[in-house]
Amino acid sequence: MKFANVFAAALMASAASLALAGGAMAQAKEEVQVLHWWTSGGEAKALATLKDKMQAEGVTWTDVPVAGGGGEGAMTVLRSRVTAGDPPTASQMLGFDIQDWAEQGVLANLNDIAAKGNWDATIPQAIQKFSKYQDQWVAAPVNIHSTNWIWVNKAMFDELGLSEPKDWDELVAALDKIKASGKTALAHGGQPWQDATIFDSVVMTTGGPEFYQKALIDLDPEALGSDTMKTVFERMAKLRTYVDDNFSGRDWNLASAMVINGEAGMQIMGDWAKGEFLNAGKEPGKDFLCYRFPGTQGTVTFNTDQFAMFKVGDNAQDAQTKLAAAIEEPAFQVAFNKIKGSAPTRTDVDTSSLDACGQKAVADVKEAAEKGTLLGSLAHGHAARAAVKNAMYDVVTAAFNGEYTPDQATTELVTAVAGAQ
Ligand code: BGC
Repeated sequence: MKFANVFAAALMASAASLALAGGAMAQAKEEVQVLHWWTSGGEAKALATLKDKMQAEGVTWTDVPVAGGGGEGAMTVLRSRVTAGDPPTASQMLGFDIQDWAEQGVLANLNDIAAKGNWDATIPQAIQKFSKYQDQWVAAPVNIHSTNWIWVNKAMFDELGLSEPKDWDELVAALDKIKASGKTALAHGGQPWQDATIFDSVVMTTGGPEFYQKALIDLDPEALGSDTMKTVFERMAKLRTYVDDNFSGRDWNLASAMVINGEAGMQIMGDWAKGEFLNAGKEPGKDFLCYRFPGTQGTVTFNTDQFAMFKVGDNAQDAQTKLAAAIEEPAFQVAFNKIKGSAPTRTDVDTSSLDACGQKAVADVKEAAEKGTLLGSLAHGHAARAAVKNAMYDVVTAAFNGEYTPDQATTELVTAVAGAQ
């Protein structure tokens, strides 16, 4: 090569590497800060699919984890950050909380990206109701979870000759049998949101969907103060007799671990519990079983995790748009929800590769939506606004811990709900 050519080649090479570096630098500047409460093993694994996807698209992921199911802790941190003028790019959020934040005028308008991704036609109305505020998409839903499930240790059920309990009496009979065998019948963590998660199911099995709607969604004082509600509290007190002595304050995933390792027979928990079983290498149908909470088949008490997007400066918008688009991408919806334990939020994705529990989740949601029995979970912010939800948490937890008789709890519930509205 002649000198001039060598010189030209070297110049071109360094220009190319400069361009590369420049590109990398521009990419490195794209960042999303994501606040969430997915801190258990299964949850973190599911979230990693989103993190990796963003990073593959050149967007830096800054994780802001705040532990605590139901998101109470996360919402406290979020409030202080927004108040300080430092909102994250996106925050995991449930139901009515999205509406509350939208009302404050701090959420971004995602209508363009929603139109491109066909969100209107593919995301069920029951979910859009929470993702949209005054006709504007303000959050990207990632899944459909539900709370009315029980998670069962199969080996223990086989050993004790137990099969799926189909109603309350059969549930009690199964719990009695496990307790008599010397194991913990019910794995539970005594935290208000977990107590309330059980309450969702007990209200549904005791009163049925119409009662659930009237009491927990319409907040009808007559339903809240009814004999049916008294029976609900009696049943909650009965369930309390099946937990172990150390239940107080235990995290939900540690309760799942008790079922996984054969210490306990079952857990009443949303289908994020499946994520823990899978993460422990357990298989549905072989190691564990997923049943609808006895007597609630045909109904679904749902919650949908959404990423609400905050208004951010112009230079962060691109990354935010990429995040919103990624969440609704059909292939991502399947990959993520397989690990998370939930059903995809989009109805146009191929769910044939989900495991048996996942298939059941999808079919149950579809059936419930058609029958009008797809009802928002109180425990997870989809039945009533936070103030009412928290007021109910207080009564449910106090009653579960024996501070109120079922009669007193029923009266307190009416008073608490009235006071919180
Ligand atoms: C969320 C789930 C989460 C669970 C436990 C619920 O409120 O919707 O996604 O796995 O809390 O952290």
